[in-house]
Amino acid sequence: MADFDPVTKAVVPAAGLGTRFLPATKATPKEMLPIVDKPAIQYVVEEAASAGLLDVLMVTGKNKRSIEDHFDRAFELEEVLEAKGDEHRLSQVREPASLATLHYVRQGEPKGLGHAVLCAKQHVGDHPFACLLGDDLIDYRDELLKRMIEVRGAYGGSVIALMEVPEEQVSLYGVATIQATDEDDVVRVTDLVEKPPVAEAPSNWAIIGRYVIDPAVFEVLENTPPGRGGEIQLTDALRTLAGRSTAEGGPVHGVLFRGRRYDTGDKLDYLRTVVKFAADRPDLAPEFVPWLREFLREIG
Ligand code: UTP
Repeated sequence: MADFDPVTKAVVPAAGLGTRFLPATKATPKEMLPIVDKPAIQYVVEEAASAGLLDVLMVTGKNKRSIEDHFDRAFELEEVLEAKGDEHRLSQVREPASLATLHYVRQGEPKGLGHAVLCAKQHVGDHPFACLLGDDLIDYRDELLKRMIEVRGAYGGSVIALMEVPEEQVSLYGVATIQATDEDDVVRVTDLVEKPPVAEAPSNWAIIGRYVIDPAVFEVLENTPPGRGGEIQLTDALRTLAGRSTAEGGPVHGVLFRGRRYDTGDKLDYLRTVVKFAADRPDLAPEFVPWLREFLREIG
């Protein structure tokens, strides 16, 4: 196997405006919306940590306070729970601060995902890094990120996660042109396009919110003009890297993901996620699932 630099850092962009989830996201980042009883972004940090990435840089925006507070200690609250002897809640309150070493950088203006990633340049330096979107959840049983890191170790360059979506949904995603490799779940990405009209989509393999990125992306992003929606698009920078050799920071491979993924920044997907997670929770399911069955019967 080639000797590529290992991946040790994760970048979590969480500075988007979250307009699809207004008005809830007027003063609260969408990444802080609870999935049952934990904010979405905590599941994302847990995923990074369980893939061995214990250095996590959050790219935050105007309303960063609640994210920082959530991943910090909360001494007053801890004292109260300690005095009550409530060990269970105490460990739940302490857990976020113990998952990883958290760092923060601010994206002054939400100029797009590519621009958010560029804000990580100084922290990441000249090493490959993982990027996990703070509102995109991958079921912990599906271990996508570990596989992507493995693929980066084998091929170098960058690795994106691709998921097959119904044709009518391609215009909501970045979409890849792909070529098979010898491995069933790995493809070579030869081209990428952000949110194409259905008729122009090269495939129905859509980019989802997990990336392992070569540091060459920073120089490319610095030279990437605003694209679709006037934003600096990560997809456009990865498209440039897809055409490069290993020595220049390319190529780009895709891991074909067939597991469970939830876009919690979308209202309908958010609702599905909360229901699914609740139905999976041993402490809630015994009451919640029968109630849900009854409710569905009632509404026909
Ligand atoms: P989205 O594409 O979901 O954009 O961002 P958004 O602006 O947050 O949401 P809507 O479409 O208006 O509802 C994908 C990820 O990239 C981050 C977001 O926080 C989210 O985790 N992002 C996006 C940034 O950090 N900065 C940006 O400028 C844009």
